[in-house]
Amino acid sequence: MNCSDLIIIGAGPGGYKAAVYAAKKGLKVTIFEDVNVGGTCLNVGCIPTKTYVHSKTFEEAVERQPQVVEALRSGVETLLSHPNITLVREKAKFIDACTIEASPSGEVWRGANIIIATGSSAKMLPIPGADGQNVGSSTELLGLKELPKRLCIIGAGVIGMEFASVFQKFGSEVTVVEYLKECLPMMDSDIAKRLRKLLEKRGITFYMGAGVKSLTPAPSPGRGETILFEQKGKEVSVKADYVLMATGRKANTEGLNLEAAGITLAPNGTIPVDEHFRTLNGQSSMVNGQCFAIGDVNGRQMLAHAAEMQGIHVVNQILGIEDKIRFDVMPAAIFTEPEAACVGPTEDQLKEQGVPFECHKSFYRANGKALAMNETEGMVKLCCEPEEGKLLSAHVFGAHAADIVQEVTAFITLGATLRQLRETVHIHPTLSEVLIEVN
Ligand code: NAI
Repeated sequence: MNCSDLIIIGAGPGGYKAAVYAAKKGLKVTIFEDVNVGGTCLNVGCIPTKTYVHSKTFEEAVERQPQVVEALRSGVETLLSHPNITLVREKAKFIDACTIEASPSGEVWRGANIIIATGSSAKMLPIPGADGQNVGSSTELLGLKELPKRLCIIGAGVIGMEFASVFQKFGSEVTVVEYLKECLPMMDSDIAKRLRKLLEKRGITFYMGAGVKSLTPAPSPGRGETILFEQKGKEVSVKADYVLMATGRKANTEGLNLEAAGITLAPNGTIPVDEHFRTLNGQSSMVNGQCFAIGDVNGRQMLAHAAEMQGIHVVNQILGIEDKIRFDVMPAAIFTEPEAACVGPTEDQLKEQGVPFECHKSFYRANGKALAMNETEGMVKLCCEPEEGKLLSAHVFGAHAADIVQEVTAFITLGATLRQLRETVHIHPTLSEVLIEVN
């Protein structure tokens, strides 16, 4: 029997970062990965998508993608070659709460602590035709070698909007069909609407409030797939050469034999955890010893950086190190062109929660750097407490929105006020000055 201080299942951003951090702190770590190290984010998610965003043509994107992914993957492999880490390239399965069997070798590993970091995969709609040849998730779309002339995207969430933006740029005729009235439900509604309107102006067609019912394969090559949906009580159909299904993701738990570890899944298929990401028995809310679940598989915040920080927090728990990671201050960004990003609650959420707040705005068109960059489309919204001015949230739409939100994230994490942000010297000319230019 092999013994470790820590067993990690899954070498995505959550798993591999936790492994490296734990190994540096002196723990003996065994990490299981049966596909590629780096997980969805590095291999078929954030990194390939950003390579597409930063390529001028589809051909350039297709050529650059494997080079960028390979370079990063070999970097992760180097990190995992730490003497305290054993990388097992096999599938892991629980035998009991602290024992794992590797498949196909059948070798058994025992761990004082176990972290489940198996991520998520695309949730395909259970509708007729969803298994068609020209229908796929973002993973399959990123594997296409030929640009689809007509691309239909089902779902105007983060994935749908990012791919709509990038494939329109490459020259595809893009149609988006979304069930809700507005795109990006987690974003500030004003910003979501501005982004959609901008993409509409560029030629993307949006069908909002439209639920897709079926997909019918092309009767002959080149005739296109038929996407049938219902909008305002009427049946509407569009044709496309490829259909991207971007209707959410589901936790990867298949084959883990979680029952053996005493874990019952939540009704949405995720692994229930407490505030320190310890797994719970779904029914009794009892903590399952030293077993943890981090990242997409616990469904808390489906973001690579959330998974990474959860992993660090878990290792700190194991080592008895206190940290002050603010999981309630979780920035997120959508890498459309231009970007949209946010941290903290939206105006609507603050209203719903009855939290008193003030909203301060500024616009990119008044920012010198934005004008010089010809990136005048954009706005900033900062919400803060009315009297003290303590910052509550930031919502940004425009070039480099993610970087601008990152600055506010630091202020919110430290409990700072709008006045403190305004009194912080900002380099001129930079886009970040939009923050101190708020009304
Ligand atoms: P999502 O949950 O963000 O959006 C799915 C959309 O599909 C929703 O707006 C929903 O109303 C719509 N939908 C569902 N059924 C439909 C139907 N029958 N007809 C029409 N529309 C329908 O899911 P998405 O975009 O697939 O992303 C999955 C996860 O990955 C999210 O949690 C997201 O945060 C994460 N992600 C984050 C990225 C980032 O941070 N930049 C990039 C990519 C993914």
